[in-house]
Amino acid sequence: MSKISERIDKCVKCVREKTDFVPKVALVLGSGLGDFAEQVEAEAVIEYSEIEGFPISTVAGHKGRLVFANIGQTPVVIMQGRVHYYEGYSMEDVVLPIRLMKKLGAEILFLTNAAGGLGDGFKCGDLMVINDHISTFVPNPLIGPNSDDLGVRFPDMSEVYDKDLRELIHNTADKLGMSLKEGVYLQLTGPSYETPAEIRMAKTLGASAVGMSTAVEAVAANHMGMHICGISFISNLASGISETKLSHEEVKEAADAVAPKFQNLVKNVIEAMK
Ligand code: HPA
Repeated sequence: MSKISERIDKCVKCVREKTDFVPKVALVLGSGLGDFAEQVEAEAVIEYSEIEGFPISTVAGHKGRLVFANIGQTPVVIMQGRVHYYEGYSMEDVVLPIRLMKKLGAEILFLTNAAGGLGDGFKCGDLMVINDHISTFVPNPLIGPNSDDLGVRFPDMSEVYDKDLRELIHNTADKLGMSLKEGVYLQLTGPSYETPAEIRMAKTLGASAVGMSTAVEAVAANHMGMHICGISFISNLASGISETKLSHEEVKEAADAVAPKFQNLVKNVIEAMK
């Protein structure tokens, strides 16, 4: 067994000492959306610090715990607080939680994040279904000896974001009378926001939103054969498009304002995943 698999198995053992809950869906909550985990009736809550070898986020406003709950009839593990590459963690650390949630039983990965919008017609507060990503600017989390027990050496990436799940999100939004954008998410390392020139580059490359997470999580999940979907909440217009300077406070405030709408969508989509 590979070193990575041994590490994940240790984490699984820690979790299994506390709960035998088997999730079908793994939900990752982005900036400001952490509240969602407080609204569900938790069957079990495990702090990251209780899981041996689990990376712990240092970002203000990011909690660190796994919440196990049934949403409707769908068993879900919610990651309340993710770890980011810019915090200084290795990519192996960054994607460890995703691998753990798969090992706990999750077949579907539902990613959420806050992102800067640069797509045509995008405005602050929009929700964007991720239909593809560009992760070329950050190290690939699969670099290193391949763990054959997790996935193949050269995984196909032609449909990372599952078409049926994207359709499910759109259909659910229609039923709720919400309109969604769709587009490509581009990941940069952060933690500095982009320059206007970098945003022009991202736009030229075909991106509609930029952020500092998510794509590498999708790479690791795709490696393990998970079905993936993701929604970016456009917390601000990207640098050079926005008339004001960017700040983490602005991102959090915008996230709080749109949270009820976003959370209702996520809840309804997950209920339909049963
Ligand atoms: N750039 C990068 N990451 C972000 C942004 C942004 O404008 N907004 C929220 N996360």
